[in-house]
Amino acid sequence: MQLSSILVVACTLVATCEGAAPRPTLPAVLPRTNSEEWINYTTLTGFFAQDDPATVPGTFDYTTTNFGLLNRTYPTDDEVDPSWTQWQKFEHYVWRLNRGSGRFVQYKVLYMGRHGEGYHNAAETYYGTPAWNCYWSLQDGNSTTTWADARITPNGVAQAVKANAFWASRIKLQKIPVPETYYTSPLTRCLQTANITFFGLDLPSRQPFVPTVKEFFREGISGHTCDRRGTKTYIHDSYPGYKIEEGFSETDLLWKPLQGEVSADQDIRSKKVLDDVFGSDDSTYISITSHSGEIASILRVLGHQAFSLSTGAVIPVLVKAETIQGNIPTTTTLPWTTISTCSTIPPLPTAT
Ligand SMILES: *[C@@H]1O[C@H](CO)[C@@H](O)[C@H](O)[C@H]1NC(C)=O
Ligand SMILES: *[C@@H]1O[C@H](CO)[C@@H](O)[C@H](O)[C@H]1NC(C)=O
Ligand SMILES: *[C@@H]1O[C@H](CO)[C@@H](O)[C@H](O)[C@H]1NC(C)=O
Ligand SMILES: *[C@@H]1O[C@H](CO)[C@@H](O)[C@H](O)[C@H]1NC(C)=O
Repeated sequence: MQLSSILVVACTLVATCEGAAPRPTLPAVLPRTNSEEWINYTTLTGFFAQDDPATVPGTFDYTTTNFGLLNRTYPTDDEVDPSWTQWQKFEHYVWRLNRGSGRFVQYKVLYMGRHGEGYHNAAETYYGTPAWNCYWSLQDGNSTTTWADARITPNGVAQAVKANAFWASRIKLQKIPVPETYYTSPLTRCLQTANITFFGLDLPSRQPFVPTVKEFFREGISGHTCDRRGTKTYIHDSYPGYKIEEGFSETDLLWKPLQGEVSADQDIRSKKVLDDVFGSDDSTYISITSHSGEIASILRVLGHQAFSLSTGAVIPVLVKAETIQGNIPTTTTLPWTTISTCSTIPPLPTAT
Protein backbone atom coordinates (compact mmCIF):
# COMPACT_ATOMS: atom_id res chain seq x y z
CA MET A 1 0.00 0.00 0.00
CA GLN A 2 1.40 3.37 -0.95
CA LEU A 3 1.52 6.03 1.65
CA SER A 4 0.03 8.60 -0.64
CA SER A 5 -2.94 6.39 -1.39
CA ILE A 6 -4.06 6.23 2.20
CA LEU A 7 -7.09 8.41 2.42
CA VAL A 8 -6.95 10.83 5.26
CA VAL A 9 -10.04 11.56 7.20
CA ALA A 10 -8.58 12.49 10.53
CA CYS A 11 -5.07 12.76 11.83
CA THR A 12 -5.74 11.76 15.37
CA LEU A 13 -5.99 7.98 15.34
CA VAL A 14 -2.76 7.12 17.05
CA ALA A 15 -1.44 8.50 20.28
CA THR A 16 1.31 11.07 19.94
CA CYS A 17 4.83 10.42 21.12
CA GLU A 18 4.08 12.07 24.37
CA GLY A 19 0.79 10.39 24.93
CA ALA A 20 -1.33 13.50 24.56
CA ALA A 21 -4.27 11.55 23.16
CA PRO A 22 -6.76 10.14 25.65
CA ARG A 23 -6.46 6.41 26.13
CA PRO A 24 -9.09 3.92 27.15
CA THR A 25 -8.97 2.66 30.69
CA LEU A 26 -7.76 -0.81 31.46
CA PRO A 27 -8.36 -3.71 33.72
CA ALA A 28 -7.01 -2.65 37.10
CA VAL A 29 -5.06 -5.84 37.63
CA LEU A 30 -2.83 -7.51 35.10
CA PRO A 31 -1.18 -10.89 35.33
CA ARG A 32 2.37 -11.98 35.84
CA THR A 33 3.18 -13.88 32.73
CA ASN A 34 4.55 -17.28 33.57
CA SER A 35 3.96 -18.13 37.15
CA GLU A 36 1.30 -19.25 39.58
CA GLU A 37 1.42 -15.97 41.38
CA TRP A 38 0.90 -12.37 40.45
CA ILE A 39 1.48 -8.98 41.99
CA ASN A 40 -1.37 -6.70 42.94
CA TYR A 41 -0.16 -3.09 42.95
CA THR A 42 -1.90 -0.33 44.82
CA THR A 43 -0.97 3.27 45.52
CA LEU A 44 -1.11 4.43 49.12
CA THR A 45 -2.73 7.84 49.12
CA GLY A 46 -2.55 10.71 51.56
CA PHE A 47 1.23 11.05 51.33
CA PHE A 48 1.83 13.22 48.27
CA ALA A 49 -0.08 16.16 46.82
CA GLN A 50 -0.03 14.29 43.51
CA ASP A 51 -2.16 11.45 44.90
CA ASP A 52 -4.86 13.94 45.96
CA PRO A 53 -7.68 14.47 43.41
CA ALA A 54 -7.82 18.16 44.43
CA THR A 55 -4.31 18.84 43.07
CA VAL A 56 -4.26 20.36 39.59
CA PRO A 57 -1.43 18.77 37.56
CA GLY A 58 -1.18 21.64 35.07
CA THR A 59 -0.10 24.19 37.67
CA PHE A 60 1.63 21.88 40.15
CA ASP A 61 5.35 22.49 40.65
CA TYR A 62 7.29 19.70 42.38
CA THR A 63 10.17 22.09 43.11
CA THR A 64 8.12 24.45 45.29
CA THR A 65 6.36 21.68 47.22
CA ASN A 66 9.13 19.39 48.49
CA PHE A 67 8.34 16.92 45.62
CA GLY A 68 4.73 17.07 46.83
CA LEU A 69 5.40 15.35 50.17
CA LEU A 70 2.52 16.43 52.41
CA ASN A 71 3.20 18.07 55.74
CA ARG A 72 1.54 15.59 58.04
CA THR A 73 2.16 13.28 60.96
CA TYR A 74 2.68 9.52 60.70
CA PRO A 75 1.75 6.92 63.32
CA THR A 76 5.48 6.27 63.81
CA ASP A 77 6.49 9.87 64.59
CA ASP A 78 6.86 9.13 68.31
CA GLU A 79 9.74 6.78 67.46
CA VAL A 80 11.86 9.52 65.93
CA ASP A 81 13.50 12.75 66.92
CA PRO A 82 11.00 15.62 66.50
CA SER A 83 13.68 17.65 64.73
CA TRP A 84 13.71 15.21 61.81
CA THR A 85 12.58 16.55 58.46
CA GLN A 86 9.35 15.52 56.79
CA TRP A 87 11.27 13.25 54.41
CA GLN A 88 13.14 11.61 57.28
CA LYS A 89 9.91 10.94 59.14
CA PHE A 90 8.37 9.56 55.96
CA GLU A 91 11.39 7.32 55.41
CA HIS A 92 11.04 5.95 58.92
CA TYR A 93 7.33 5.30 58.39
CA VAL A 94 7.99 3.40 55.13
CA TRP A 95 10.74 1.41 56.82
CA ARG A 96 8.20 0.44 59.49
CA LEU A 97 5.64 -0.56 56.86
CA ASN A 98 8.15 -2.93 55.27
CA ARG A 99 9.28 -4.31 58.58
CA GLY A 100 5.80 -5.39 59.54
CA SER A 101 4.57 -6.38 56.10
CA GLY A 102 5.23 -10.12 55.99
CA ARG A 103 6.65 -12.13 53.11
CA PHE A 104 4.10 -11.30 50.48
CA VAL A 105 3.82 -7.54 50.81
CA GLN A 106 6.42 -4.91 49.99
CA TYR A 107 6.34 -1.16 49.90
CA LYS A 108 8.44 0.90 47.54
CA VAL A 109 8.72 4.57 46.67
CA LEU A 110 9.08 5.23 42.96
CA TYR A 111 10.52 8.56 41.88
CA MET A 112 9.38 8.82 38.28
CA GLY A 113 10.86 11.61 36.20
CA ARG A 114 9.78 12.67 32.72
CA HIS A 115 12.60 13.65 30.37
CA GLY A 116 13.24 17.30 29.63
CA GLU A 117 11.76 18.87 26.51
CA GLY A 118 12.92 17.05 23.37
CA TYR A 119 13.16 18.24 19.77
CA HIS A 120 10.05 16.22 18.98
CA ASN A 121 8.10 18.12 21.67
CA ALA A 122 9.22 21.41 20.17
CA ALA A 123 8.33 20.21 16.68
CA GLU A 124 4.86 19.09 17.74
CA THR A 125 4.28 22.54 19.19
CA TYR A 126 5.64 24.19 16.04
CA TYR A 127 3.62 22.16 13.54
CA GLY A 128 0.52 21.58 15.68
CA THR A 129 -0.61 18.16 16.85
CA PRO A 130 -2.76 17.15 13.82
CA ALA A 131 0.03 17.87 11.31
CA TRP A 132 2.59 16.36 13.66
CA ASN A 133 0.63 13.11 14.02
CA CYS A 134 -0.24 12.58 10.38
CA TYR A 135 2.94 13.75 8.73
CA TRP A 136 5.91 15.26 10.56
CA SER A 137 6.15 12.66 13.33
CA LEU A 138 6.70 10.02 10.64
CA GLN A 139 9.76 11.85 9.27
CA ASP A 140 13.17 11.75 10.95
CA GLY A 141 13.14 15.54 11.06
CA ASN A 142 12.94 18.53 8.74
CA SER A 143 15.82 20.18 6.89
CA THR A 144 17.12 21.86 10.05
CA THR A 145 16.12 19.68 13.02
CA THR A 146 16.28 15.96 13.77
CA TRP A 147 13.71 14.41 16.07
CA ALA A 148 14.12 10.68 15.42
CA ASP A 149 15.06 9.27 18.85
CA ALA A 150 15.02 12.93 19.86
CA ARG A 151 17.65 14.59 21.97
CA ILE A 152 16.61 17.20 24.51
CA THR A 153 16.59 20.88 23.57
CA PRO A 154 18.47 23.58 25.52
CA ASN A 155 15.19 24.13 27.37
CA GLY A 156 15.07 20.40 28.15
CA VAL A 157 18.64 20.56 29.46
CA ALA A 158 17.63 23.48 31.69
CA GLN A 159 14.73 21.42 33.06
CA ALA A 160 17.08 18.57 33.91
CA VAL A 161 19.54 21.01 35.52
CA LYS A 162 16.64 22.31 37.61
CA ALA A 163 15.81 18.75 38.69
CA ASN A 164 19.48 18.23 39.56
CA ALA A 165 19.55 21.40 41.69
CA PHE A 166 16.33 20.37 43.39
CA TRP A 167 17.68 16.93 44.25
CA ALA A 168 20.80 18.61 45.65
CA SER A 169 18.69 20.89 47.83
CA ARG A 170 16.51 17.99 49.07
CA ILE A 171 19.60 16.00 50.01
CA LYS A 172 21.06 18.93 51.88
CA LEU A 173 17.96 20.40 53.52
CA GLN A 174 15.60 17.45 53.85
CA LYS A 175 17.95 14.46 53.96
CA ILE A 176 15.63 12.87 51.43
CA PRO A 177 16.08 9.12 50.90
CA VAL A 178 17.92 9.11 47.58
CA PRO A 179 17.32 6.36 45.01
CA GLU A 180 19.01 3.08 45.78
CA THR A 181 18.54 1.92 42.19
CA TYR A 182 18.08 3.80 38.94
CA TYR A 183 16.31 2.75 35.76
CA THR A 184 15.90 4.56 32.49
CA SER A 185 14.10 4.22 29.18
CA PRO A 186 16.43 3.38 26.28
CA LEU A 187 15.41 6.50 24.35
CA THR A 188 18.08 9.19 24.09
CA ARG A 189 16.00 11.92 25.73
CA CYS A 190 15.84 9.84 28.93
CA LEU A 191 19.47 8.69 28.84
CA GLN A 192 20.44 12.36 28.65
CA THR A 193 17.95 13.58 31.26
CA ALA A 194 19.02 10.96 33.82
CA ASN A 195 22.67 11.82 33.27
CA ILE A 196 22.07 15.52 33.99
CA THR A 197 19.55 15.02 36.79
CA PHE A 198 21.81 12.83 38.91
CA PHE A 199 25.16 14.32 37.99
CA GLY A 200 27.48 15.35 40.83
CA LEU A 201 25.01 14.76 43.67
CA ASP A 202 26.17 13.92 47.16
CA LEU A 203 25.14 10.26 46.91
CA PRO A 204 26.18 7.50 49.29
CA SER A 205 29.17 5.58 47.90
CA ARG A 206 27.19 2.32 48.04
CA GLN A 207 24.41 3.79 45.92
CA PRO A 208 26.14 5.49 42.99
CA PHE A 209 24.21 6.70 39.97
CA VAL A 210 24.55 3.69 37.67
CA PRO A 211 21.23 3.35 35.88
CA THR A 212 19.99 0.23 34.17
CA VAL A 213 18.49 0.72 30.72
CA LYS A 214 15.23 -1.22 30.44
CA GLU A 215 13.36 -1.71 27.17
CA PHE A 216 9.90 -1.63 28.70
CA PHE A 217 10.35 1.77 30.34
CA ARG A 218 10.29 3.26 26.82
CA GLU A 219 7.49 5.49 25.58
CA GLY A 220 4.31 4.15 23.97
CA ILE A 221 5.59 2.71 20.70
CA SER A 222 3.71 5.12 18.51
CA GLY A 223 5.21 4.55 15.06
CA HIS A 224 6.59 8.07 15.31
CA THR A 225 10.33 8.20 14.68
CA CYS A 226 10.90 9.84 18.07
CA ASP A 227 9.87 6.55 19.69
CA ARG A 228 12.31 4.35 17.70
CA ARG A 229 15.32 3.65 19.85
CA GLY A 230 19.00 3.47 18.95
CA THR A 231 21.00 0.26 18.86
CA LYS A 232 22.44 -1.32 21.98
CA THR A 233 25.91 -0.45 20.67
CA TYR A 234 24.92 3.21 20.28
CA ILE A 235 23.51 3.33 23.83
CA HIS A 236 26.57 1.63 25.26
CA ASP A 237 28.98 3.90 23.36
CA SER A 238 27.05 7.05 24.31
CA TYR A 239 26.67 6.16 28.01
CA PRO A 240 29.37 3.64 28.89
CA GLY A 241 28.61 4.10 32.60
CA TYR A 242 25.07 2.76 32.19
CA LYS A 243 24.11 -0.89 32.56
CA ILE A 244 21.90 -2.42 29.93
CA GLU A 245 19.47 -5.12 31.02
CA GLU A 246 20.06 -8.70 30.03
CA GLY A 247 18.37 -9.75 26.81
CA PHE A 248 18.28 -6.23 25.38
CA SER A 249 18.34 -6.61 21.59
CA GLU A 250 20.94 -4.90 19.42
CA THR A 251 18.28 -3.31 17.23
CA ASP A 252 14.81 -2.07 18.06
CA LEU A 253 12.55 -5.05 17.40
CA LEU A 254 9.39 -3.45 18.79
CA TRP A 255 8.97 -0.27 16.76
CA LYS A 256 6.94 -0.68 13.58
CA PRO A 257 6.42 2.01 10.96
CA LEU A 258 2.84 3.32 10.80
CA GLN A 259 1.78 1.11 13.71
CA GLY A 260 0.86 2.34 17.17
CA GLU A 261 0.90 0.30 20.37
CA VAL A 262 -2.50 0.58 22.08
CA SER A 263 -2.70 1.51 25.75
CA ALA A 264 -4.00 -1.92 26.83
CA ASP A 265 -0.83 -3.50 25.43
CA GLN A 266 1.33 -0.74 26.87
CA ASP A 267 -0.14 -1.35 30.33
CA ILE A 268 0.56 -5.07 30.03
CA ARG A 269 4.24 -4.38 29.36
CA SER A 270 4.35 -1.70 32.07
CA LYS A 271 3.10 -4.36 34.47
CA LYS A 272 5.78 -6.75 33.20
CA VAL A 273 8.59 -4.29 33.80
CA LEU A 274 7.25 -3.45 37.26
CA ASP A 275 6.99 -7.17 38.06
CA ASP A 276 10.58 -7.52 36.92
CA VAL A 277 11.74 -4.65 39.15
CA PHE A 278 9.65 -5.63 42.17
CA GLY A 279 10.65 -9.26 41.77
CA SER A 280 14.38 -8.66 41.55
CA ASP A 281 15.24 -5.40 43.29
CA ASP A 282 15.29 -5.17 47.08
CA SER A 283 15.59 -1.41 47.06
CA THR A 284 12.83 0.64 48.60
CA TYR A 285 13.64 3.92 46.80
CA ILE A 286 13.77 3.58 43.03
CA SER A 287 14.26 6.17 40.32
CA ILE A 288 12.71 5.69 36.88
CA THR A 289 13.43 8.14 34.07
CA SER A 290 10.77 7.75 31.43
CA HIS A 291 8.10 9.49 29.39
CA SER A 292 4.70 11.12 29.87
CA GLY A 293 2.80 8.31 28.14
CA GLU A 294 4.76 5.57 29.87
CA ILE A 295 4.55 7.15 33.32
CA ALA A 296 0.78 7.56 32.73
CA SER A 297 0.63 3.83 31.95
CA ILE A 298 2.62 2.92 35.08
CA LEU A 299 0.31 5.10 37.16
CA ARG A 300 -2.69 3.15 35.77
CA VAL A 301 -1.07 -0.16 36.67
CA LEU A 302 -0.33 1.16 40.17
CA GLY A 303 -3.92 2.31 40.63
CA HIS A 304 -2.74 5.91 41.00
CA GLN A 305 -4.97 8.69 39.73
CA ALA A 306 -4.06 10.17 36.36
CA PHE A 307 -1.47 12.91 36.86
CA SER A 308 0.11 14.32 33.74
CA LEU A 309 3.68 15.56 34.05
CA SER A 310 5.15 18.49 32.19
CA THR A 311 8.56 17.91 30.60
CA GLY A 312 11.24 17.50 33.25
CA ALA A 313 8.78 16.96 36.12
CA VAL A 314 9.07 14.28 38.81
CA ILE A 315 6.34 12.35 40.66
CA PRO A 316 6.93 10.19 43.75
CA VAL A 317 4.50 7.34 44.44
CA LEU A 318 4.24 5.13 47.54
CA VAL A 319 3.40 1.67 46.21
CA LYS A 320 2.11 -1.40 47.98
CA ALA A 321 2.83 -4.61 46.09
CA GLU A 322 1.17 -7.79 47.26
CA THR A 323 2.11 -11.16 45.82
CA ILE A 324 -0.98 -13.30 45.46
CA GLN A 325 -0.90 -17.05 44.88
CA GLY A 326 -2.94 -18.54 42.07
CA ASN A 327 -5.99 -17.29 40.20
CA ILE A 328 -4.03 -15.11 37.85
CA PRO A 329 -6.39 -12.58 36.26
CA THR A 330 -6.45 -12.92 32.50
CA THR A 331 -5.80 -10.11 30.07
CA THR A 332 -5.70 -10.05 26.30
CA THR A 333 -3.48 -8.04 24.08
CA LEU A 334 -5.17 -6.01 21.38
CA PRO A 335 -4.07 -5.28 17.82
CA TRP A 336 -2.07 -2.11 17.31
CA THR A 337 -3.65 0.78 15.46
CA THR A 338 -2.63 2.02 12.04
CA ILE A 339 -1.60 5.64 11.81
CA SER A 340 -3.76 7.85 9.60
CA THR A 341 -1.40 9.71 7.33
CA CYS A 342 -1.93 12.94 5.43
CA SER A 343 -1.63 12.70 1.66
CA THR A 344 -0.18 16.19 1.38
CA ILE A 345 2.13 18.10 3.69
CA PRO A 346 -0.21 19.97 6.02
CA PRO A 347 0.19 23.75 6.20
CA LEU A 348 1.64 25.37 9.29
CA PRO A 349 -0.96 26.37 11.85
CA THR A 350 -1.94 30.01 11.53
CA ALA A 351 -1.00 32.18 14.44
CA THR A 352 -3.91 33.21 16.59
C1 LIG B 1 -5.46 -5.62 45.53
O1 LIG B 1 -5.08 -4.83 46.68
C2 LIG B 1 -6.08 -3.93 47.12
C3 LIG B 1 -5.48 -3.08 48.24
O2 LIG B 1 -4.76 -3.82 49.13
C4 LIG B 1 -7.31 -4.68 47.57
O3 LIG B 1 -8.33 -3.78 47.94
C5 LIG B 1 -7.80 -5.54 46.40
O4 LIG B 1 -8.89 -6.34 46.85
C6 LIG B 1 -6.68 -6.44 45.91
N1 LIG B 1 -7.15 -7.17 44.75
C7 LIG B 1 -7.20 -8.51 44.74
C8 LIG B 1 -7.74 -9.13 43.50
O5 LIG B 1 -6.78 -9.18 45.65
C1 LIG C 1 5.24 21.91 53.74
O1 LIG C 1 5.70 23.02 54.49
C2 LIG C 1 6.83 23.66 53.94
C3 LIG C 1 7.34 24.74 54.85
O2 LIG C 1 6.63 24.81 56.03
C4 LIG C 1 6.47 24.23 52.58
O3 LIG C 1 7.59 24.83 51.99
C5 LIG C 1 5.98 23.09 51.67
O4 LIG C 1 5.53 23.62 50.45
C6 LIG C 1 4.81 22.36 52.33
N1 LIG C 1 4.50 21.20 51.52
C7 LIG C 1 3.31 21.03 50.96
C8 LIG C 1 3.15 19.83 50.08
O5 LIG C 1 2.39 21.82 51.09
C1 LIG D 1 12.05 22.48 11.62
O1 LIG D 1 11.28 22.31 12.81
C2 LIG D 1 11.61 23.22 13.85
C3 LIG D 1 10.69 22.90 15.00
O2 LIG D 1 11.19 21.82 15.69
C4 LIG D 1 11.39 24.64 13.41
O3 LIG D 1 11.79 25.51 14.44
C5 LIG D 1 12.20 24.89 12.17
O4 LIG D 1 11.89 26.20 11.69
C6 LIG D 1 11.84 23.89 11.10
N1 LIG D 1 12.71 24.07 9.94
C7 LIG D 1 12.23 24.35 8.73
C8 LIG D 1 13.23 24.51 7.65
O5 LIG D 1 11.01 24.49 8.55
C1 LIG E 1 27.17 11.91 31.99
O1 LIG E 1 27.61 12.66 30.88
C2 LIG E 1 28.91 13.20 31.06
C3 LIG E 1 29.21 14.14 29.92
O2 LIG E 1 28.53 13.82 28.77
C4 LIG E 1 29.91 12.06 31.17
O3 LIG E 1 31.21 12.56 31.36
C5 LIG E 1 29.54 11.19 32.35
O4 LIG E 1 30.37 10.07 32.41
C6 LIG E 1 28.09 10.74 32.23
N1 LIG E 1 27.73 10.01 33.43
C7 LIG E 1 27.33 8.77 33.40
C8 LIG E 1 27.05 8.11 34.70
O5 LIG E 1 27.15 8.17 32.35
